[in-house]
Amino acid sequence: MDPGKHDQRIAESFGKQAATFEDERLNMAFTSGLPWLVEHIAPVAGEQILEVAAGTALVGRALADAGSEVVALDRTVAMLEEGRRHTTGRAPHLLVGTAERLPFPDGCFDAVVTRFSLHHLVEPHGVLAEMSRVCRRGGRLVVKDLVADNDPAVAEQQDRVESWRDPSHLRMPPRGAVAGWLADLGHQVTQVSMREVERPLEPWLEQSVTAEDGSTLVRQAMEVELAGGEVTGMRPRRRDGELWFGQTWEVTAAR
Ligand SMILES: C[S@@+](CC[C@H](N)C(=O)[O-])C[C@H]1O[C@@H](n2cnc3c(N)ncnc32)[C@H](O)[C@@H]1O
Repeated sequence: MDPGKHDQRIAESFGKQAATFEDERLNMAFTSGLPWLVEHIAPVAGEQILEVAAGTALVGRALADAGSEVVALDRTVAMLEEGRRHTTGRAPHLLVGTAERLPFPDGCFDAVVTRFSLHHLVEPHGVLAEMSRVCRRGGRLVVKDLVADNDPAVAEQQDRVESWRDPSHLRMPPRGAVAGWLADLGHQVTQVSMREVERPLEPWLEQSVTAEDGSTLVRQAMEVELAGGEVTGMRPRRRDGELWFGQTWEVTAAR
């Protein structure tokens, strides 16, 4: 893994995806799960919350609307700018930066959160340590991400399909791994919740602005599985003639 090349992939992928993150026709996966995540964060008016790898700050904007003072940090300027353009309620403070080196002193936030970022990070454990550093003693850490199939061989295939769709995808954490990493960092894990989600394939490919060759590989792999071939871990099925697939989302909350 060449970190420079990976940074370039992140810039390319999210430079392209910024507009579709705010397209209501395509971004339901990012908006429909919001109340569930916000419940786990339990924002309190006036407290300081950091959202790491915030993208267009869909989460950060919901927390700001709940009255919290939010800093939303991301390395892709286009994502933050798209978020700024779509802010209608209370605005988070938007900041360009990298999750690996958070530009804040120790213990300065009441809560630190991140969603759908770990599977893009070269060293997710290191980023959790950085999030932990800037969270005050007794504060909350909340992480939501996709999680991998329990079978490592299937998980490998799942990551392959995901990276055809978005070349900046690296690997989904195994179920429960985030809780283990947070416990290793000395946190008390208070909640781990899971949700199985069914999604139509074509809007997902359109949202991630997947190149035609990548889209073809994803469709073919799902068709092969439906015909009895190799298991992709994407749980494909056909609904009214359209391809659908499944994801598992996990939210981990700790103190
Ligand atoms: C799938 S998007 C999720 C955006 C947002 N968290 C959400 O759920 O709506 C992943 C985001 O992570 C950002 N990102 C990836 N690696 C990063 C890093 N090392 N530091 C900061 N941001 C990063 C990308 O720029 C992108 O905006």
